[in-house]
Amino acid sequence: MVKIKAAVLILALMLVAGRAGAATLRIACGSAGVDQDICRVSANVWAEKTGNQIEFVNMPNDASETLTLYRQLLNSGSDQIDVMQIDAVWPGIFANQLIDLRPYSKGQEHQSFPSLVANDTVNGRLVAMPWFIDTGLLFYRKDLLEKYHLNVPTTWDELDAYASRIQRAERASGNEKMWGFVWQGRAYEGLSCDALEWISSYNGGDVIDDRGQVTVDNPAAARALDLAAKWVGSITPRAVLNYGEEDARGVFQAGNAVFMRNWPYVWSIANRSDSPVRGRVGIASLPKGGADGKSVGALGGWQLAVSRYSRNPKLAANLVMYLTSAEVQRKRAIQASFNPTIPSLYSDKGVRQANPYMVSLLPTLNAAVARPSAVTGSEYSEVSAQFWNAAHEVLAGHDHAANALAKLSVSLKRLAPNGVWQ
Ligand code: GLC
Repeated sequence: MVKIKAAVLILALMLVAGRAGAATLRIACGSAGVDQDICRVSANVWAEKTGNQIEFVNMPNDASETLTLYRQLLNSGSDQIDVMQIDAVWPGIFANQLIDLRPYSKGQEHQSFPSLVANDTVNGRLVAMPWFIDTGLLFYRKDLLEKYHLNVPTTWDELDAYASRIQRAERASGNEKMWGFVWQGRAYEGLSCDALEWISSYNGGDVIDDRGQVTVDNPAAARALDLAAKWVGSITPRAVLNYGEEDARGVFQAGNAVFMRNWPYVWSIANRSDSPVRGRVGIASLPKGGADGKSVGALGGWQLAVSRYSRNPKLAANLVMYLTSAEVQRKRAIQASFNPTIPSLYSDKGVRQANPYMVSLLPTLNAAVARPSAVTGSEYSEVSAQFWNAAHEVLAGHDHAANALAKLSVSLKRLAPNGVWQ
């Protein structure tokens, strides 16, 4: 009896001790689409396994707003967030406020595409682990293209023509809310991605080239932006000037747009059982800028990082390694169409079944164009804000592209040390 009592006591003490040793980690996951839900499920599996607890910090679904929030938190040295989901263009911005993950990764980063690892390595420190890759894609209504005997457009001119035609015909037959093409036109990071795609597709360069030269003031870039401005109010609702990813998805998923530019996450949500367009959605690479142009998707994606101010860096790094592991990336690809950062997962049967387009779009992913974040480092957010503001002025009809881009070029050169970014 005494023995049993002692055993119970020891067990109780062990449990209490276990509790006392347990930590609570705070994680900020994304919040576009099902981001938050799926992050919660995987993080809770880790919590169960390790006997720790997780609190989830809600983030805005606008990348630029999230950047502002992180800045406020990190610049005040706050320990409120341990693990942060950071954008592919932020390693240079936050490098000094994130821990080096190499002592904890046991080389796990080498499973990912080397270019992503290079992007997450700043001055030899691995400041984040790749989690999923994004690239801009064209989503279209298969049923509507079939109805009007049209193919998937391969140039922006074709897209414009098909969108106008279907929009007109659908409205005439009673579908008054129908629009031809929706995308991200709000003055924020998403517009920098869309505008870079148009400009680069017309061979107008990447705003700032790899050697740090500002290239944005050129006729091809101006042509691309002026063409996009013409869509506004014709095939695209004027409200696009305030659209982020989720706004565009809302219109498309409600069945009110023929074409949409968005990221891969939309695939799984648009095909959910409650989606009005389920089974009627196709995905392709974005159109080319004319016969001599190219199809360009902006390179995006998210990483997981540990704040330098975390009180539990070792545990936080352990959570990051779990969430970015092949096992979790596979689940996320199957359940929420997040493109894995681990090449071998693209030949996984389950991943291919859930996302039949993913493999055929691998070349699109490989050819994705990076925003000039590596070359501008900690100044990238200012560079991007100037770029999206210039693009927004043109789209809103307040300026011609040639003028807006000439002004932008002067300003970006002024911002660069010695007129050239290194
Ligand atoms: C997506 C991309 C990210 C980009 C953002 C812009 O989330 O993955 O890289 O900055 O969209 O809105």
